[in-house]
Amino acid sequence: MAVLFRSSSSDNAQRWREALAREMPELEFRVWPVIGDPAEIEFALVWHPQPGLLASLPNLRLIASLGAGVDHILSDPELPRHVPLVRLVDPYMTVAMSEYVLMQVLRLHRHEPDYAAQQRAGIWRELPQSNASERRVGILGLGELGRDAAVKLRALGFDVAGWSRTAKSVEGVASFHGADGLGAFLARSEILVCLLPLTSETENILNREIFARLPRGAALVNAARGGHLAEADLIPALDSGQLSWAVLDVFRDEPLPAGHPFWRHERILMTPHVAAATNPPTAARVVADNFRRCREGRTLLNVVDYEAGY
Ligand code: NAP
Ligand code: GLV
Repeated sequence: MAVLFRSSSSDNAQRWREALAREMPELEFRVWPVIGDPAEIEFALVWHPQPGLLASLPNLRLIASLGAGVDHILSDPELPRHVPLVRLVDPYMTVAMSEYVLMQVLRLHRHEPDYAAQQRAGIWRELPQSNASERRVGILGLGELGRDAAVKLRALGFDVAGWSRTAKSVEGVASFHGADGLGAFLARSEILVCLLPLTSETENILNREIFARLPRGAALVNAARGGHLAEADLIPALDSGQLSWAVLDVFRDEPLPAGHPFWRHERILMTPHVAAATNPPTAARVVADNFRRCREGRTLLNVVDYEAGY
């Protein structure tokens, strides 16, 4: 039996082939589009599989996402939903995301983008300085990634809150949940970090109404998915001063098309979807663990709830 690998970048395949071979040398590794006999595919390890691909594999036992998010798989209208789907929860990636969030929150907190702009303009001007304990950070999504980032921001002294679907208890972090908790959470979020999964409930959540409920001059960090942002609402919010900065790692269309207004806006800072890249050597251990669990009829880890969409 074999695993079908399908990703967007070709150099990934070789790294994954080697990493998975170390864990499960007996498992044949087939790289899309060279599938061979579809009946021999037992597992699928995928990123943005084209619609219908997974449904064409009659003996598929488990679908594993190459990333923490699964929106790129759930968007397949022919997805065989009787097959369990697991997402990637790799501590290596969690550390990477927290590094990214801490870096962006610290630079926003200490006005680094403002000072860089001042330097370009030859301006010498001090901006108000405060300690982290006086800066209120709000994290949308208090799951694997949001929780770790929240704890580490807290350790730096920030005044941190999180928002999730169900109530959470994270030491030192104020927890808000559900639609009822959103208003109070937003009202205290001077730096808003999005680490939500992209679902029908969270799509376009970063929109004009939400921005209006933040303190004036708040900054946004979106490291989750481009679909969370109502793109047309961002530049007006920045130009009006309701938002001071937007740090974007993810976009609706990736790579961001040439000529997109985000490229040139002076208050938008961008990275090319690199906040927490999948790391084959560590991720292969996590993936192989689930493949073995599946074969041995043991409980799978990080199973996606098809109803909830994450
Ligand atoms: P996770 O463990 O599933 O956590 C998701 C969190 O969002 C949970 O706290 C969940 O609430 C909350 N949530 C979901 N739907 C909600 C709703 N309708 N209202 C309020 N809260 C809601 O996911 P994760 O591993 O932290 O990953 C989060 C996302 O990060 C991924 O889906 C992916 O899109 C993105 N990501 C981006 C990168 C990058 O490089 N930019 C890398 C990795 C991941 P409950 O806890 O109550 O269920
Ligand atoms: C990356 O975006 C992921 O979902 O892991």
